[in-house]
Amino acid sequence: MVEHYPVMKEYVVRYLNLKDGGIYIDATCGYGGHSRYILERGSNILLYGLDKDEDAIRYVSQALANFKNFKAIHSGYEDIDRVLEKEGIEKVDGILMDLGFSSNQVKDGERGFSFQIEGPLDMRYDRRNELTAGEIINRWSRKDMIWVFENYGEVKRATKIVDAIIERRKNKRFETTIELADFIAKYCIRQGKIHPATKFFMALRIAVNNEVEVLKEGLKKAVLFLKTNGRLVVISFHSIEDRIVKH
Ligand SMILES: C[S@@+](CC[C@H](N)C(=O)[O-])C[C@H]1O[C@@H](n2cnc3c(N)ncnc32)[C@H](O)[C@@H]1O
Repeated sequence: MVEHYPVMKEYVVRYLNLKDGGIYIDATCGYGGHSRYILERGSNILLYGLDKDEDAIRYVSQALANFKNFKAIHSGYEDIDRVLEKEGIEKVDGILMDLGFSSNQVKDGERGFSFQIEGPLDMRYDRRNELTAGEIINRWSRKDMIWVFENYGEVKRATKIVDAIIERRKNKRFETTIELADFIAKYCIRQGKIHPATKFFMALRIAVNNEVEVLKEGLKKAVLFLKTNGRLVVISFHSIEDRIVKH
């Protein structure tokens, strides 16, 4: 299994302001890069790692099994209230949210996140959910698809490509990531080094996981469950997330 390189891990620990005896939540623990770093630096803390991805939770539970002060829980951060209630915790000292997908998820073709690796059109963080990227591409209306690509992918005009997708799916469903990426590349001009499918795949991932609403809900709840002077540290990668976090 490939270890996710925890970017900005030093900043994370500094901003979380780890305190002796403190309770912390790594709300998107993934394969445990940041969690391990936090556990190695925080003395006598309690750390909960949440993730929607069951594979990640299974992995991190084993990888960090030596840390008896760590507990991995399969849950979305938007359900932090339920998690804390179940654990009998009222408030915490710090919450970390490292948004988006992990390199492990991207490299696993079966998850369908990458337009460079063959796999099913999936893109779900939590595979208990029903909506997949394939469902959007093969079944959603013209209007809804245009909305998703223009709003979540910040594609300037998605009409032409969506019409082409709808024409093509009448005869043959889109099954795989590469199939969709190649189709998009035929209709969109490459700008510099960026593959034309990049924005479309990002838009699909955001829609499949309802990321905008989930983030708004998660941030609202996170603030409610912080102690006075508690810290919320958010790492975001694209402008849509950034706007929500700064709002
Ligand atoms: C950038 S990765 C985190 C990597 C992690 N910080 C590390 O150091 O290995 C983002 C993770 O967030 C998870 N995720 C996405 N949405 C989530 C949500 N609503 N609740 C919990 N986890 C979520 C993804 O499954 C992914 O594992």
